[in-house]
Amino acid sequence: MSHKIQTLSGYIHEYQKSILQPEEFWSRIAESFHWQKRWDKVLEWDFEGPDVKWFLNGKLNITENILERHLFIMGDKPAIIWEPNDPKEKNIILTYRELYEKVCEFSNAMKAQGIKKGDRVIIYMPMVPEAAIAMLACARVGAVHSVVFAGFSASSLADRINDCEAKMVLTSDGNFRGAKTIDVKGVVDEALEKTRSVEKVIVLQRTKSEVSMKDGRDIWWHDAIKGQPKENKAEVMDAEDMLFILYTSGSTGKPKGVVHTIGGYMIYSYYTFVNVFQYSQGDVYWCTADVGWITGHSYIVYGPLLAGATTLMFEGVPTHPHPGRFWEIVDKYKVNQFYTAPTAIRALQAHGLEPVEPYSLDSLKVIGSVGEPINEEAWHWYHDHIGKGKCPLVDTWWQTETGGIMISALAGITPNKPAHASFPLPGIDPVIVDAEGNELVGNNVEGNLCIKSPWPGILRTTYGDHERCRQTYFSTYKGMYFTGDGAKRDHDGYLRILGRVDDVINVSGHRMGTAEVENAINEHPKVVESAVVGYPHEVKGQGIYAYVICDMEGRTEQNLINEIRETVTKIIGPIAKPDKIQIVPGLPKTRSGKIMRRILRKVASGDANNLGDTSTLLNPEVVEEIIKGAVK
Ligand code: WT7
Repeated sequence: MSHKIQTLSGYIHEYQKSILQPEEFWSRIAESFHWQKRWDKVLEWDFEGPDVKWFLNGKLNITENILERHLFIMGDKPAIIWEPNDPKEKNIILTYRELYEKVCEFSNAMKAQGIKKGDRVIIYMPMVPEAAIAMLACARVGAVHSVVFAGFSASSLADRINDCEAKMVLTSDGNFRGAKTIDVKGVVDEALEKTRSVEKVIVLQRTKSEVSMKDGRDIWWHDAIKGQPKENKAEVMDAEDMLFILYTSGSTGKPKGVVHTIGGYMIYSYYTFVNVFQYSQGDVYWCTADVGWITGHSYIVYGPLLAGATTLMFEGVPTHPHPGRFWEIVDKYKVNQFYTAPTAIRALQAHGLEPVEPYSLDSLKVIGSVGEPINEEAWHWYHDHIGKGKCPLVDTWWQTETGGIMISALAGITPNKPAHASFPLPGIDPVIVDAEGNELVGNNVEGNLCIKSPWPGILRTTYGDHERCRQTYFSTYKGMYFTGDGAKRDHDGYLRILGRVDDVINVSGHRMGTAEVENAINEHPKVVESAVVGYPHEVKGQGIYAYVICDMEGRTEQNLINEIRETVTKIIGPIAKPDKIQIVPGLPKTRSGKIMRRILRKVASGDANNLGDTSTLLNPEVVEEIIKGAVK
């Protein structure tokens, strides 16, 4: 089964075909998968609803396409290689046959604990093979998984459990990350005090920490699988049944549950994986993301395993126990494709070349970047010192909502340029529009990035709130999916992503809504009002800058700043902790009472000289004060 584009002319040909005849194009790819019943129709869509359906009435189980389909020819091939946080601990290599057995065994355990098709299951786990096994076991029984990054707080976890009314939580006693051991079960216990839907919690023993187990609710993973058969029949699912919900931040309100369905996501994650990374059988592929993010879903678990690839999972962090750990792992397993985020590159770049030098890195064929725009300096460092100038560097632009990579070079096939995601993948029809939604054609144009027609991996809805999905993505520009990103098509026709144009900031490749951080800050009893903006940060890409109006009585500024940081950590998690907090006497507002974020962004970026017209403000005097007190 190969749908791998091999040449530039092959790309041009496939691309044209995919745009002119999308149904024929995608059904040809879908045909190589195992369906229990073939679809009646390839595609039905309208972007007004929105209502998008792929492979209508097709019946399948995605895990049959990951497990059974690979058993005969490559049952003994490593599916997952797991490298633990502590390099002295033994690694784990699971073959496709072992993965099949473990997924069946655990899905049987889930059923024994009352899980049925359609139930929602939260996965709040460290980066261990069981996290992938848990995801696949859900898919096998037809349950909908929602993985929550294990760095989120109890209150964030509770919000997600409540939003999708999860019946089960899969978790661990604790989590090893770098030099730290992190409490996980305690966070789950706290979250469950604010929720009602969860009936069972299955707990993997990872750190052997002391935890409390609630009678009748909590059960150890090793007890749950005792005596369970290592095989079963996969549940028959509809192509448009939900595969998973993944919560992500937007410009307003609480995170929303992006919904992906089985058939389209399967085809799209597979196809993009094989083509972007040019994966060949026998290659070892490594993506450093966490399974708590979409990158982990599509490019650690589903895409690679659907392709019968060997996918490496790393439990730890890039700098533990030393800043050469990534490169040590590349050499240890002879990794061929390596996929990471610009923030990790910049953090490692800051350690200089010494940690890189002991390693040959000569197994690498392709290196990739994801999560935020990669700046030219990081691009060159990565390309020259990790890729040794010989590996194509794929800068992959996509989103939680898109399910898979949308704009990227195909490694070694299509041309590439530093800091440019470059060209759309087959099936993707991107347009750059001006503020009124007029399409900007030709080269050398800049505007907002939209997609004109559906691809198999597009989100279908936001869980429990379809109107929010319409509002957020399909109402800004009629008849188009709006990405929230700005983009430029340069004089040679290469696409360059310029970053978010809405109130979303990208901190170390993690998406944060400014409103969400403000709401967390406002939970502090002394806070009157706050405004959060992003500013350029050397390692994180963007840092979080918070302007806060406080009631100062009985507190020093430093007390308050520390307390606000703690409040945000408690409400969202450490990833949302503001880098800079400035206590201000007021916030610049328009006469209609809207906060002028443009001004706040400029001050936060150290660009206060050029604020533009502030005379229409309700309170222009406050701007001077803010500039004076700006945190450097
Ligand atoms: C936002 C989506 C998709 C995986 C990880 C993030 C930004 C992502 C790139 C890139 C420039 C990028 C965009 C996008 N982004 N990749 N290669 N170049 N920007 O997923 O959390 O859904 O965030 O990340 O702004 O909208 P996400």
